[in-house]
Amino acid sequence: MTSERAAPDVASVCLGEARAGAIETTCLPAESDDAVERTVACLRGGGLVGLPTETVYGLAGDATNGEAVARIFEAKGRPRFNPLICHVSDRDMAARLAVFDDMARALAERFWPGPLTIVLPQAGGTPVHPLTTGGLATIALRQPKGIAGDIIARLGRPLAAPSANPSGRVSATSAGQVMRGLGGRIEMILDAGPSELGLESTIVKLERGRLVLLRAGLVGREALHEATGLAVVAPDAGSGIEAPGQLRSHYAPHGSVRLDVTQVEPGDYLIAFGDAPVPGADGAAEIVNLSPSGDLREAAANLFAALARFDRPEIARIAVAPIPQEGLGEAINDRLRRAAAPRD
Ligand code: TXA
Ligand code: MG
Repeated sequence: MTSERAAPDVASVCLGEARAGAIETTCLPAESDDAVERTVACLRGGGLVGLPTETVYGLAGDATNGEAVARIFEAKGRPRFNPLICHVSDRDMAARLAVFDDMARALAERFWPGPLTIVLPQAGGTPVHPLTTGGLATIALRQPKGIAGDIIARLGRPLAAPSANPSGRVSATSAGQVMRGLGGRIEMILDAGPSELGLESTIVKLERGRLVLLRAGLVGREALHEATGLAVVAPDAGSGIEAPGQLRSHYAPHGSVRLDVTQVEPGDYLIAFGDAPVPGADGAAEIVNLSPSGDLREAAANLFAALARFDRPEIARIAVAPIPQEGLGEAINDRLRRAAAPRD
């Protein structure tokens, strides 16, 4: 009797672990014949790839696919939705995603492909998902060197890719390091040996005729000045430019935002989650459900669109149903708290 009972218990434990998300991570040498093809197929299907670039390995996903981008945050265990760099295959792809002026063109011409990320106004109607850009009107672009460029060209879409390490750990500069940090959470790792540079890209933002240095890197101030003739300046203190997601009331919509709402007031605009009805929801002016099935990945992918939809001057009150504080829920709730914070 005892052993008969023990067997199903063991089986259900294993099933539970499989459901918890362990996936098989395939490591493929970058020089193998089908490396580009297999990586493109994986990315096209919404998969995540540890991708070599000349700076560090990236945790890459299709920047136009919200659920793939949500999985990037989930795999990294990032507690907030910082905007991610969009990697492009060439300047034509970049020009479809952002508004380039002469200075931006000069930077791209001089430093791409290479370790420089340029933050520019986003072009209208781009297919880039708002979770990639953190809902910002700007976009960070970089054309990496090497096989990553070939893969993006073949995919025909930009790749979102933060460094391929769990949040809070050092950036991965080898396939083995990516495997140790993210194995079981991503589909593939492409092994091209140690990263050539081993340091993340320099990030600059073109703003009011100046170059704001958001992150120092191998492309130095002098080279940036020489390429453009522009002054290279540090971000204004307290501007929150460097990490826009950290501004307390960033992305706040016009109306007030109430979180963890268990009673909807008549006329509220409701952001719902899951299938349990919130009391009073019948009286809501409009309801957007982040994920009727209660899937946090889907909810993350829909979050910025939901906030944008209710960001209208005539909307005074937005109510948000409780969202579980687990996995991606932590980053979702972080962003909602910023939206709800008192306005500065
Ligand atoms: O070398 C690199 O840049 C590597 C490789 C993989 O390309 N990528 C990388 O990405 O370091 P990540 O996500 O770890 O760093 C992106 C930085 C973040 O600090 C983010 O705040 C900033 O870029 N960023 C992204 N979009 C931005 C925007 N629109 N405005 C300001 N900062 C932005
Ligand atoms: Mg990083």
